[in-house]
Amino acid sequence: MNIIGTDVQKAAAILRSGGIVAIPTETVYGLAANAFDAAAVARIFEVKNRPTFDPLIVHIASADTLASVVRSVPDWAQVLSEHFWPGPLTVVLPKRQIIPDIVTAGLDTVGVRVPNHALTLELLEQLPFPLAAPSANPFGYISPTSAQHVADQLADTVDYILDGGECRVGVESTIVGELEGRSSVFRLGGVALEQLEPYLGTLDVRPGSDSLPVGPGMLASHYAPHKSVVIAAPPTNCDSRTGYLGFSATSPYLPPENQRILSEKADLREAARAVFAALRELDQLDVDVIYAELVPERGLGRAINDRLRRASADRVAESS
Ligand code: TXA
Ligand code: MG
Repeated sequence: MNIIGTDVQKAAAILRSGGIVAIPTETVYGLAANAFDAAAVARIFEVKNRPTFDPLIVHIASADTLASVVRSVPDWAQVLSEHFWPGPLTVVLPKRQIIPDIVTAGLDTVGVRVPNHALTLELLEQLPFPLAAPSANPFGYISPTSAQHVADQLADTVDYILDGGECRVGVESTIVGELEGRSSVFRLGGVALEQLEPYLGTLDVRPGSDSLPVGPGMLASHYAPHKSVVIAAPPTNCDSRTGYLGFSATSPYLPPENQRILSEKADLREAARAVFAALRELDQLDVDVIYAELVPERGLGRAINDRLRRASADRVAESS
């Protein structure tokens, strides 16, 4: 059976019958199921080996249907949805009962976004329900930015992979929610803080919180290759079992084939598009350690650095 394809009708039929389908978005590939069907959503958690305390994002076809999944839309969320949807922005709002608890890990809020990808928008428009979808990778590993990345790890367990090419943004959505009555950024992502500021004023950013300010989701180690990642310049005496991920230039201290560059012209958007694929490639080399250079801390650079820091975090933190 051909697991990868561009057949939107086939994807829709599988989802209608309770199956799970990997879908392309502008950020990363998602692993989707009917958001109203608790049993279908449970399979996502199984396939990803994802802890059930980690809530999923609900994908809708347009801002017009937001009110069908949330109870209220505060002004900040209204404004952000008008400016950034479809796009790499998720808003966390009070959920309606129609969203099963498994989607939100029992929280009273739900993360919602309109993804900006033609194939997935076409799919969503055909379906009578929204799609709950986390990134389509085994829990804790690097997010997939191509259909092949998904197939490499999940081909045996998903029902279909809708191939929409390479993701144009390359890092996950920025998540904005409300904390103590103020809109706050829960995860740095594809919409830069500089783009949000005109609408939200001074931003309350909870650094490194992939989601919840307390408890679940605050996993230091995430987006991580199997090899250990060290945020530093490679040592001058490194051996051939060392890899390097540089921003715009290679290192003279190790062989070129052990290195990946995010953007030769030092463009942060290009770097965001490249970062996960580069980490995957380095992870597949015969190396023991990957040195990585942080990029400038502005624009999409903040999201890239957040992912690199967490790729390098101590695995012991993963279970804490
Ligand atoms: O760009 C993206 O957001 C991608 C694509 C597929 O849309 N999805 C994605 O999903 O990154 P995932 O599951 O890897 O990350 C979702 C994160 C959760 O880990 C959680 O931290 C946060 O979104 N989240 C979801 N619902 C939430 C809620 N009710 N409150 C706080 N955080 C929430
Ligand atoms: Mg993820």
